[in-house]
Amino acid sequence: MSTCSTVILGTGSYAPERVLGNAELARMVETSDEWIRSRTGISERRLAATDENASDMGVIAAQRALAEAGLQPADIDLLIVATCTPDMPMPACACFIQHKLGLNTRTACFDLNAACSGFVYALDTACAMLTSGRYQKALVIGVEKLSSVIDWQDRTTCVLFGDGAGAAIVGKVDEVGRGLLGTRLGAFGEGTDLLYISHGGSRSPTTAESIAARDHCIRMKGKEVFKLAVRAMDEAARDILEQCHIRPDQISLVIPHQANLRIIEAISEYLELPMDRFVVNVDRYGNTSAASIPIALDEARRSGRIKTGDVTLLVAFGAGLTYGSALIRW
Ligand SMILES: CC(C)(COP(=O)(O)OP(=O)(O)OC[C@H]1O[C@@H](n2cnc3c(N)ncnc32)[C@H](O)[C@@H]1OP(=O)(O)O)[C@@H](O)C(=O)NCCC(=O)NCCS
Repeated sequence: MSTCSTVILGTGSYAPERVLGNAELARMVETSDEWIRSRTGISERRLAATDENASDMGVIAAQRALAEAGLQPADIDLLIVATCTPDMPMPACACFIQHKLGLNTRTACFDLNAACSGFVYALDTACAMLTSGRYQKALVIGVEKLSSVIDWQDRTTCVLFGDGAGAAIVGKVDEVGRGLLGTRLGAFGEGTDLLYISHGGSRSPTTAESIAARDHCIRMKGKEVFKLAVRAMDEAARDILEQCHIRPDQISLVIPHQANLRIIEAISEYLELPMDRFVVNVDRYGNTSAASIPIALDEARRSGRIKTGDVTLLVAFGAGLTYGSALIRW
């Protein structure tokens, strides 16, 4: 039995400067501020500059997390970057970040693609690798430049997504019952046709025709995703609570994936937990996929919503359709 716990030592986040509000979007496609806000809860989202890469955003979030943890780049020996919009398909975004951040060349660096569940998957992976005893301090980043894969003529998707980055430093303490108490990861692989980018992979490499058809952009069956998302998040939340013998009313704060306010409200109803125990920032950032939970986590910590001893539930779902939950005692 393990005698140590994996704990979050610091968090950081970054949102690009450029704000794209609903009114501006309504001048680009046939939509309205009223439609977007009533169906999704989103008022605005951030867009990275053309020359601002996912790695650049990840580096800033990481620097803020390191500063909060009081650590130096040289202290990190494991870097996991959760993203589905890396700078390039190859090499990994983690390698760009390692170099820009000045991490040790003895740092294990890799990307993890679990779409919007990516940060929860990466956190679990980092904790397992730390618990193995072979790594001491992990940097876990969730970052996306979704604006690079949005079809700006498709009103059913372009109103939903945004860019950003969040990071956490994970370490170990010689104490049990703190930090990551447990996780529950999974996927409904039968839902790979509900949310996808069809071209640019090895099955259908990019062609002139695929670019003309904007097949390198995100496509989604929104209604189906909505239903499966609510089911997956509810199950993932219930399972982890049961596994850790914790009742919903013992949770101080839920940090759900920020895809849609209505999905978060449905989870609040299912878990019978009031909305004031949920972190919501989807109104300001839209859906930033793997960056959504670490940005919300960082904002919650910095605004004093998380105190020592509190139990926080992270719960996510995303393309795949992947899902994941994690319980953390601070
Ligand atoms: C996308 C989503 C907001 C759409 O809401 P909805 O209530 O299901 O809306 P529908 O898809 O049924 O569309 C209703 C109508 O609005 C229209 N519509 C779609 N997008 C629109 C927009 N941006 N502005 C105005 N009208 C729009 C549709 O064309 C449809 O018109 P029709 O009835 O004439 O065909 C919702 O399905 C959703 O949030 N799904 C989950 C998406 C998600 O979370 N994805 C990320 C997973 S990590």
